[in-house]
Amino acid sequence: MYSTPFLDLPPLLKAGGTVRLPGSKSISNRVLLLAGLSSGTTVVHDLLDSDDTRVMLASLRELGCEIDSTGQTLRIAGLGGRLKNRDAKLFLGNAGTAMRPLAAALAVMTATQGGRFELSGVQRMHERPIGDLVDALRQLGCRIDYLGTDGYPPLRLSAGSGSVRTTAPIRVRGDVSSQFLTALLLALPLVSATSPVAIEVEGELISKPYIEITLNLLTRFGIEVQRDGWERFTIPQGSAYRSPGDIHVEGDASSASYFVALGAIAATDSPIRIEGVGLDSIQGDIRFVEAARAMGANVSCGPGWLEVKRGAWPLKAIDLDCNNIPDAAMTLAVMALYAKGTTRLTNIASWRVKETDRIAAMATELRKLGATVTEGADFIEVSPPSHWRAAAIHTYDDHRVAMCFSLAAFNSLARAKPPTPVRILDPKCVGKTFPHYFETLFSVVETDTPLIPVLAVDGPSSSGKGTVASAVAQALGYHFLDSGAVYRATALAAMRAGLTPADEHAVALLAATLDLAFEDGSIRLAGEEVSDLLRDEAVGSMASKISALPTVRSALRELQLSFRKVPGLVADGRDMGTVIFPGADLKVFLTASAAKRAERRHKQLILKGISASIDNLRADLEARDARDQNRTVAPLKPAQDAVLLDNSDLSIEDSVKWVLDAWEQRRSF
Ligand code: DC
Repeated sequence: MYSTPFLDLPPLLKAGGTVRLPGSKSISNRVLLLAGLSSGTTVVHDLLDSDDTRVMLASLRELGCEIDSTGQTLRIAGLGGRLKNRDAKLFLGNAGTAMRPLAAALAVMTATQGGRFELSGVQRMHERPIGDLVDALRQLGCRIDYLGTDGYPPLRLSAGSGSVRTTAPIRVRGDVSSQFLTALLLALPLVSATSPVAIEVEGELISKPYIEITLNLLTRFGIEVQRDGWERFTIPQGSAYRSPGDIHVEGDASSASYFVALGAIAATDSPIRIEGVGLDSIQGDIRFVEAARAMGANVSCGPGWLEVKRGAWPLKAIDLDCNNIPDAAMTLAVMALYAKGTTRLTNIASWRVKETDRIAAMATELRKLGATVTEGADFIEVSPPSHWRAAAIHTYDDHRVAMCFSLAAFNSLARAKPPTPVRILDPKCVGKTFPHYFETLFSVVETDTPLIPVLAVDGPSSSGKGTVASAVAQALGYHFLDSGAVYRATALAAMRAGLTPADEHAVALLAATLDLAFEDGSIRLAGEEVSDLLRDEAVGSMASKISALPTVRSALRELQLSFRKVPGLVADGRDMGTVIFPGADLKVFLTASAAKRAERRHKQLILKGISASIDNLRADLEARDARDQNRTVAPLKPAQDAVLLDNSDLSIEDSVKWVLDAWEQRRSF
């Protein structure tokens, strides 16, 4: 997951390949609550692991549920409708799918069983309405107090009279958030033992497909709700949750929308195949497929899968009532950037009370890219840019804003000149529903190599370039090439094969077929973790010798070039800016006085328990500098267009900041 302050997407050109979707947020949180309330143990498969499910799980644990997870499955021993812990403060982040149903379930349980609970969330959660749900629960006799602003969380739930009034129908508004009705439907079976419980919906019910998910899952847990149209729902007397045993969570249909759109925009050769959700989905957002088709997507589907290719191009503008697909409809607003004409999305007033005011957010950010946007209380109209602009997209702590705007990186397909990168601010907000969204996206997109940014950090031994470059890579969310490790790994492999530097061709052959992988800080040579071995002095000395062999250097060129992948690369070494990436966007030549470098090396050795004399180390470094500078192949020297940084008197943090500032000055945001 990217937890950097921003993530720059280079201009992207094409897409194709297979993605597997994370589990549906709506299904996951409903299943967790139902499993937690049921009698019996439920084994949940393919649950979404994200911010919103984590807060639900933490709350259930707090309430006394026993939960074990192994790999992709989770076992929940349900409470059987009886509170184990009657006093808790629950923090629910910004998860509406946790706040609303938990508030309802705990309200009726405290009313009948006693207890005291406080439910709070992040600031935005305290701005999202819950008054209509509280009003409905108060009709039952539940005691609920607002701890901040009336009508909004945080809430306190207190013990009631020991029973609830269920003889008259419970009335609830349906036109603000369908989650109020979902919350009641999930909670009221808890109090249906002696009489049926009816719910009447006031106002036009929005987002009906989410209610269908709720009803569907209630059936799986033994509750058959009777429904009269969308106005009246009755929970039969004697209803009780029963665990279905095993339950599978299907992939998230809203998350699928980004990949459906991706296929429609950029799958010109092979399709984007989406696994985890398909024709048989119980999620309303699967109907996004129809909207995408109307815009020109070529979609085929089967049970549990979708395949999407580009159909019409440019895309076709549409005028669509999006009440049934409120979340996925945000993706349509970004697809509109690639359409001919004006796209109009209507009946989306609920956008204003979601993770952020989504109508305002989409309008502001689409305009930054150059689009013409008109917004109203419950609609948005988008016409594509005539001139695309590079933009830093503010994401408002809203996962969907971050995910749908990543699609703007395909602007060159809409003839943006020049192709424009897109900056996504606070990319970690995708963690709400799709923590590895960007990694998944990057696994199925392509671009021209010259469009992928490279930052080269060259310099002499012990200049700190490795530490600085790796920290810069981390700060930017870019790939990292430690070219010294590539030479060291070649040296290790050569030593193991019994070769000497005199066997130049044999070493070069070995270099050309080196099975080397860098993954999350580990370095694997033919599958074996070798990070520590590579730091060995003997390996370093062999690396120094074989790195002077021209055929070895050229044999390792391809391998080093292959690190240049979306979203970008930070490469460190002796010749990154001069030989391997001469067109790098920024070249930094990092150096420090021989005295300072000797001091740093000395410290490193002492830490490792190796004694050494500073004077000797300094003499060694000076000799090595002279050798490196004067060798005929790839001599150590700054590229002509490199910026020099003498970091003799700078800390690592200062050097990193200096490089990041220099990088920022070259970017167009
Ligand atoms: O940076 P380092 O100490 O890990 O590098 C190991 C050896 O490889 C060192 O002798 C320099 C050499 N090298 C090179 O010649 N070119 C590079 N791009 C990186 C390292």
